[in-house]
Amino acid sequence: MKKIKEQPFIKSLFFLITLSVISCGGVPETTISEEKAFSVEEVLEMVSTQNDITRTLYTKAIVDKGKAQGMRFDEDWRKDRIEAGPLPALFLRGISNSIRRGPVPLGLYLGSDFPVNNANKFEGKQSALFEKIKKDQKPQFFYDESQQLHTAMFADIAVANACVTCHNEHSQTAKTDWKLGDVMGATTWQYPKDSLSYKDAIDVLNAYSKGTIDIYIEYLNEVAEFKESEKPIIGERWPEEGNYLPTAEVFLDSVNKLSSYQTLKILVGDK
Ligand code: HEC
Repeated sequence: MKKIKEQPFIKSLFFLITLSVISCGGVPETTISEEKAFSVEEVLEMVSTQNDITRTLYTKAIVDKGKAQGMRFDEDWRKDRIEAGPLPALFLRGISNSIRRGPVPLGLYLGSDFPVNNANKFEGKQSALFEKIKKDQKPQFFYDESQQLHTAMFADIAVANACVTCHNEHSQTAKTDWKLGDVMGATTWQYPKDSLSYKDAIDVLNAYSKGTIDIYIEYLNEVAEFKESEKPIIGERWPEEGNYLPTAEVFLDSVNKLSSYQTLKILVGDK
């Protein structure tokens, strides 16, 4: 197993805070790492930002650009005879499955009112809140009594042409006139506690990053098994430049670079 990189800037921020507390003769390090530092809403907002960036990067830089190079992306990408990568929704499901297998109690789902896959159709409370999200694109937070989980929903927007064309043309689609910029669905996130320590918050973000690495490596493993298609060269370069795919580390580094500024803004309360 490759070692997963952690969020470098959050770590350094954490150490800076710890250092300054210790040097001022304040509480020892263990206390601050256990102190309740964030509300569940703040942390779910941070991980949702990370998800938006990961999803956009995967869709635009891998799927969109890869298709232009002749790479394929398919619902049945795991099947042996299909030489393709995961669709964006299945990439996200891969992340969600990886999180579920790990120790962090974070739930992640992608739903819609007009889904391609009927299993992804919102019901009950989530369906009502999704109506609001479609109007103002603002996140919705609530406590799900039946599951006893803090729940947050964030708009999932058609950020790339690939989102719109693939859904409109899909044989099972419930809607054929999606446009760029539409709220196509929402990601739903769940967490059991109402506040998190720095460590809990970093665990949540790292679980998401690990999920990204896990599903991305599964994709690269599929590519390694290609027999008929030309295998992309895996390294530093991206599909934009030709038949290339970045390694999992290169992909995650880009996500981290793109998300650190956004997450920092949330951390300092300037969203
Ligand atoms: C190449 C095809 C393709 C592309 C590109 C694509 N999707 Fe999907 N999307 C699907 C399929 C197929 C599913 C159903 C997957 C499953 O079985 O759960 C899906 C699922 C979803 C869902 C869950 C509800 C549903 O429709 O089942 C949302 C929301 C969604 N996609 C939004 C997007 C957005 C936003 C983008 C661009 C960032 C995007 N999709 C890109 C094919 C695509």
